[in-house]
Amino acid sequence: NWTIENFIEMKIKDIRAQVGDRNVLCALSGGVDSSVVAALIHKAIGKQLTCIFVDHGLLRKNEAEEVTATFADDFDMNFIKIDAADRFLSKLENVTDPEQKRKIIGNEFIYVFDDEADKLTNMDFLAQGTLYTDVIESGTDTAQTIKSHHNVGGLPENMQFELIEPLNTLFKDEVRELGLQLGLPETIVWRQPFPGPGLGIRVLGEVTKEKLEIVRESDAILREEIAAAGLERDIWQYFTVLPDIRSVGVMGDARTYDYTIGIRAVTSVDGMTSDWARIPWDVLEKISTRLVNDVDHINRVVYDVTSKPPATIEWE
Ligand code: XMP
Repeated sequence: NWTIENFIEMKIKDIRAQVGDRNVLCALSGGVDSSVVAALIHKAIGKQLTCIFVDHGLLRKNEAEEVTATFADDFDMNFIKIDAADRFLSKLENVTDPEQKRKIIGNEFIYVFDDEADKLTNMDFLAQGTLYTDVIESGTDTAQTIKSHHNVGGLPENMQFELIEPLNTLFKDEVRELGLQLGLPETIVWRQPFPGPGLGIRVLGEVTKEKLEIVRESDAILREEIAAAGLERDIWQYFTVLPDIRSVGVMGDARTYDYTIGIRAVTSVDGMTSDWARIPWDVLEKISTRLVNDVDHINRVVYDVTSKPPATIEWE
């Protein structure tokens, strides 16, 4: 009979048999899938696994610290954290088109990862958090998918990895159960979907350090208040966006001319369609008050009441 415990036992045997005394590399994003894959493989082969975590400076508040605390400290993994924030920011300078921003961030991610992977010798396997749904959706075998990725990003040609994808028979809910069983914290296992380009597509238009700070601080406040109201599991995704507009306000006796922040919160089953979440007004009021009081350069808060379609979940 299928249980998570049996699955873990079976996979540990498989992984040990496949890897032998060789080494595995894993790109850890802090998302559910790559985290669970790392925890599972680590349980099987310990220090033969090395994880690379690229901090592109577009993560949410405290996220890099939490990932580091979990994997480097609690799990005691071979864990390499790359602080690449400046590298990404300089590449994004003067870029305003959403798809171009995505492309730049995606490519830079692979360059940074490659640079680091290149320094490591004796890496034979690349671990991937591919799920059963990814296998079905891509319609091709996943080896093909990763190869085209490598071509785009330009993995050094001499680097030949064998793929290891121990989650490719699992659905998302099973992956979460597995993660909890392996001792991952709920903050990682129940992390809401977060796009690869991160806050880079939530600062609309050109990404600057100052604007990232506004969206990061406001997002942290929104998450705190949603948690305090006990709404975390009811809302599929919730975040703030910083449109490139300023408006007039008044604070004390003084006129202000500052940024508007948008709140996006949606209910959804799979992200393909969504409805805007009916957050109670008193919760919204508290969020709005805190955003204006606690985050510099915000003097107006708006709530996005559009479903998908016609709007998308992200604003870019
Ligand atoms: P949209 O905005 O298209 O988002 O309604 C649907 C879901 O996909 C996420 N999303 C992304 N995820 N890279 C990602 O890894 C991206 O470029 C990207 N764009 C959107 C979005 O957060 C939502 O969960």
